Amino acid sequence: MPNFRTLDDIDVKGKRVLVRADLNVPMQDGVVTDTLRIDRQAPTIRELAGKGARVIVLSHFDRPKGKVVPSMSLEPVAGPLSKAIGRAVGFNVDTAAMKDGDVVLLENTRFHPGEEKNDLDYARQVAALGDLFVNDAFSAAHRAHATTEAIAHLLPAAAGRSMEQELTHLDKALGNPERPVMAVVGGAKVSTKIALLENLVKRVETLVIGGAMANTFLTAEGIEVGKSLVERDHIETALRVIHLSTESGCAIILPVDAVVAHNFKAHAKHRTVDIRSVGADEMILDVGPKSIDEFKQRLIGTRTLVWNGPLGAFETAPFDKGTVAAAKAVAEATKAGNLLSVAGGGDTVAALNHAGVSDDFTYVSTAGGAFLEWLEGQELPGVAALVASKGV
Ligand code: 3PG
Repeated sequence: MPNFRTLDDIDVKGKRVLVRADLNVPMQDGVVTDTLRIDRQAPTIRELAGKGARVIVLSHFDRPKGKVVPSMSLEPVAGPLSKAIGRAVGFNVDTAAMKDGDVVLLENTRFHPGEEKNDLDYARQVAALGDLFVNDAFSAAHRAHATTEAIAHLLPAAAGRSMEQELTHLDKALGNPERPVMAVVGGAKVSTKIALLENLVKRVETLVIGGAMANTFLTAEGIEVGKSLVERDHIETALRVIHLSTESGCAIILPVDAVVAHNFKAHAKHRTVDIRSVGADEMILDVGPKSIDEFKQRLIGTRTLVWNGPLGAFETAPFDKGTVAAAKAVAEATKAGNLLSVAGGGDTVAALNHAGVSDDFTYVSTAGGAFLEWLEGQELPGVAALVASKGV
């Protein structure tokens, strides 16, 4: 577990505290459509303001590439943030006039060209607004940007509550887990998850591979998968991952049956077949019931589970059944107290929401890319800077 200060270690009363949040939230026509990230980061801001800090919130939004893009303003986020923390939030106003307990949200940090360059001058300009820096943006910690990385070297820094929660759970899931550990990795492409797979086979006892990426592994094992999506130029990669898993004693579990159809569309005519009986003109769109039974069997005795990616085309009925059944099994084992389960990255939160079990996992990360880089075993610059930051 990285060693960093938290809100328990800093005295904030009367201090100007810069909080790096990740308010890069889903928005449509200037209206926030999902407040999960805001809700997760609200406790830090509420706590700091409650302790009498003058809280200046920093965040990026979308990718304006160093230019002012009005449609990427953070202004529409100020209202939902105010609601979540139960206090007024000033938007982009002069911070010099702030009183203890006030909260101000500044404009999109990526409107400035220095942000993504991790530019020290820009970091100094921002740091001059505060006395302390609190990073609560785990989901942006894989970016070495001025307000996630450079700034932590300029002010005494601490992790916010959401950052603390993320790092604590990720440590329990893969840093220092209770064993045996199972990883579930799904999604479309092996090519986007090579480093992740290579890291996981060294760290877990069982690796369940689902989604279209399983097709590439099945092909590597000589199994015909018909018209299914296969990354032919990554069959070698799959063989390497299989080889690494054998070396490190990790069992790779591939589907033993599948739901197949001739076309990929909602409610397409489909059938369930043994994995060795996929027709030449059929495509695999979900794992089958025998694969789910095997998954449930392997879950018995597993103490820790890390999940990234759906097992089938879960957004298109009825090819969501495998993902939903597996997610429900994990939720049951977690609720029964037999399992610590952590999920995150990309489509995973949407898949668990679809299965209605997000609240029943031990922890669901709000991070996308940062969660994946952490699964790859990479050091995240935003976290490393917090650890390296000078004392209070
Ligand atoms: C995310 O949504 O994953 C973070 O906010 C990082 O956004 P980025 O991929 O644009 O850096």
